[in-house]
Amino acid sequence: MVTIHSSRRINGTIRVPGDKSISHRAVMLAGISSGKSTVSGFLKSDDCMRTIGCLRSLGVDIEEENNLIIVHGKGLNGLLKPEEVLDAGNSGTTLRLMSGILSGQQFTSTISGDESLRKRPMSRITGPLRQMGAVIEGRGEYAPLSIKGGSLSGIEYRLPIPSAQVKSAILLAGLYAEGTTSVIETVPSRNHTEIMLKHFGAELIVNGNTIEISGSVLKGQDIQVPGDISSAAFFIAAAAAMPGSELVVKGVGVNPTRTGIIDVLLEMGADISYDNMSTLCGEPVADIVVRGRRLHGVRVSGDIIPSMIDEVPVLAVIAAVAEGATVIEGAGELKVKESNRITAMVSQLEKLGVRIRELEDGMEIIGPNIIRGGEVESFGDHRVAMAMAVSGLFAEEEVRIKGKEIVSISFPGFFDALAEVVI
Ligand code: S3P
Repeated sequence: MVTIHSSRRINGTIRVPGDKSISHRAVMLAGISSGKSTVSGFLKSDDCMRTIGCLRSLGVDIEEENNLIIVHGKGLNGLLKPEEVLDAGNSGTTLRLMSGILSGQQFTSTISGDESLRKRPMSRITGPLRQMGAVIEGRGEYAPLSIKGGSLSGIEYRLPIPSAQVKSAILLAGLYAEGTTSVIETVPSRNHTEIMLKHFGAELIVNGNTIEISGSVLKGQDIQVPGDISSAAFFIAAAAAMPGSELVVKGVGVNPTRTGIIDVLLEMGADISYDNMSTLCGEPVADIVVRGRRLHGVRVSGDIIPSMIDEVPVLAVIAAVAEGATVIEGAGELKVKESNRITAMVSQLEKLGVRIRELEDGMEIIGPNIIRGGEVESFGDHRVAMAMAVSGLFAEEEVRIKGKEIVSISFPGFFDALAEVVI
């Protein structure tokens, strides 16, 4: 249990840990490249360490030296048949992206995860990977997945859901396929796999909403991972909605496929700007400068949702203290994350006295609310735990959060970082 006290302001200059999505991709591609790669700024969280664990089980030698991860790549076809079931833990990205790589191997392997991950839908990846020629057996549509890879052929696949995990699994399998593999996106999703694949030398072409990849040789690289905007978002959103706050988050990845939360906060009247823009390994990076104000409600739906899907929990909290109604729609994907994040946020904010209701694929929040204190659940979901911590900053009385340890999935030092900036 952790107790969060109400805060008057959020002040200071902080850095957040490395981007989770980019960290996974960096070590995966390093593992199947030829030669040595180094990754600095790698997120050493439970999820990303699962990816390292899977790669080690596949014979990749990975050293951890202070803040650097050193990967001795095995080349595209050098992975070894693992002796044990590959364990992705709580990490959907590990399971889904690794399945793409495993589909290209000349051996059979099994990948699984914890109780939550074994309940998350996998037919979204097994469908296209089977079309490419992988033989995959699951527990119905769920993990564990037993994957017999090899002899893949390129396909043209129109993504039925805007999911970067699905897109990435197909592109990674495409590295091993005969011919060209094309993925067509109707709504853009985060493009870190495309950027990183190009950086490692893959034959990848992005043409409008179509991404084409063909068999390529990857070469080891030195990668720097920017700060994670999804982690920064808890601080940015809290500071933006708390008048008098002044916060700078240094070195955050601001890839436009991830910055939907900034756009929405700006629309709510926030004062947020970027400073010191630069590029790290193809990824845009900036210091994010926030000044607190009173915000107003907003309507969020459609194509912006994938670019802020992991930030909806904290947006719900901010909407609770904003003036007027906020409606979030078209976010049905939230139901199949680490928890059902719609039910989780609606039920816990309701407990704290917030006027909020569940919609078919989203939620409606009527603000402003006086948030009461109380005890809330995290449902074993890191982002729910951190979003509820933000609710405590705005509450009249303390908010106690059960299962605080879960933040180690994406942001191990979250509560210490929070303590540093709250006044
Ligand atoms: C991720 C993609 C998103 C996101 C997840 C990380 C990734 O999932 O919610 O936290 O690294 O590709 P979907 O692709 O399922 O939307």
